[in-house]
Amino acid sequence: MGAGKSTLGRQVAARLHRPFLDVDARIEESQGSIRELFEQGIFREVEERVALEALMQPPSVVALGGGAVETPAIREALRARATTVLVEVEVEAAWERVSGSDRPLAQDEAEFRELYERRQTLYDEVADDRARDLDGIVLAAGGVAVAPLSADLVHRPGSAELVADEHVLELHPPPINVRVLTVPAGEQAKTVATAERLWRQLRLDRRGTLVAFGGGCTTDVVGFVAATYLRGIDWVAVPTTLVGQVDAAIGGKTAVNLQEGKNLVGAFHWPVRTVIDPELLKTLPEEQRREGLAEVVKTGLLAGEPLWELPDDELVRRGAAFKTALCLRDPHDRGPRQVLNLGHTFAHALEAGSDGAVSHGRAVALGLRAALRLSGRSTEVVDEVLAPEPVQANRERAWEALKRDKKSTGGELTLVLLGDEGGFTANVPEAEARLALDDLIAD
Ligand SMILES: NC(=O)c1ccc[n+]([C@@H]2O[C@H](COP(=O)([O-])OP(=O)(O)OC[C@H]3O[C@@H](n4cnc5c(N)ncnc54)[C@H](O)[C@@H]3O)[C@@H](O)[C@H]2O)c1
Ligand SMILES: [Zn+2]
Repeated sequence: MGAGKSTLGRQVAARLHRPFLDVDARIEESQGSIRELFEQGIFREVEERVALEALMQPPSVVALGGGAVETPAIREALRARATTVLVEVEVEAAWERVSGSDRPLAQDEAEFRELYERRQTLYDEVADDRARDLDGIVLAAGGVAVAPLSADLVHRPGSAELVADEHVLELHPPPINVRVLTVPAGEQAKTVATAERLWRQLRLDRRGTLVAFGGGCTTDVVGFVAATYLRGIDWVAVPTTLVGQVDAAIGGKTAVNLQEGKNLVGAFHWPVRTVIDPELLKTLPEEQRREGLAEVVKTGLLAGEPLWELPDDELVRRGAAFKTALCLRDPHDRGPRQVLNLGHTFAHALEAGSDGAVSHGRAVALGLRAALRLSGRSTEVVDEVLAPEPVQANRERAWEALKRDKKSTGGELTLVLLGDEGGFTANVPEAEARLALDDLIAD
């Protein structure tokens, strides 16, 4: 009570594009005032009916009254059908917000405090996670925790095994005490050969959990192995790079590369948990950090907030929440998630035109500049924060790659641009896109 569930619930629903159901409001609309129902001694009964009905709906965001967890049938339905997030609030703040209202259980401070204490055990029992704000709830809904690593990384029955980037393992102890397998550092880990070796080395059964510990390359290949081993087992991602923490370890895309191209084989397989500890970034070389910063700037531009100005732990939390929300809306990448490609069509063209000599982050920084120009917006942020210089690349090959990436129709290309409300797709005349691309390439 007084934690702000109704307000936050409505915001979460809007962000995830899901219906919102406020159980207390629904009761007042259909059954009369909560106060009167309390006086008649039938409130909990009515609440049970309305709450259970709400929990039977297709995926929605449901705000429950603070006392709903006192009803066993509601607790059971929460366990069976919902991801339950406790919105945390200190008793002082809660009392301040509700005192003076006509809520029947908020008339006396001592009683209110006692109730608050008594309910904590029930909250502990039903809550899958805890949060304090909108981003926190979105992260919890996606199974993403931004927190220091702890031994309860895998809180599921069955055994676990961990696959780590061998370089990361030299810098950081494995986060849990289980059998450890390794993959080579970097892109060379993302092969069918690595996947096959892991399939054959694993000793897990179908209830087992695979933990991935490393950057985006490690989580991509280990996630793919988890998606395919025994037709799919649970996995936990523990990303150790900025790219991994704000991007690669979120959203369930897993992949390996083929000679013919990157990420050509893979699966959608959402990790049961992604545990993000920004402390791990302390050992990350500056060059790798800049790779991630390009994605952070992209995210900040899409979110309309200068996320790049935040200290690491907030920057990671906010960036991860933004991607989580989009992926929850569009788990199979069929629409809304495509805005995450802002700047990426140009980036892929530069990567292809330079035979991979230009790193992804640098290419994205340049790609963002092109996308902002085509959107008629200032490129100041990109210039200041990422300061990308034009790169050496073959203009024709880059242009061919760009056209292949975005099939052109009637002399126009469909690109992600940036508007006041965030990213959107639009048709851009080929000639304009070509000019924007040429600008990114050094003479
Ligand atoms: N699945 C997705 O949605 C998604 C999204 C974006 C990127 N990706 C993929 O992610 C990959 C890139 O990820 P990346 O940039 O994390 O690369 P990476 O995994 O190769 O890590 C980069 C380097 O940093 C080292 N490293 C990792 N953590 C470290 C730490 N804490 N301290 C010091 N060094 C550390 C690694 O050993 C490696 O050499 C690409 O293959 C890309 O396709 C996937
Ligand atoms: Zn990217």
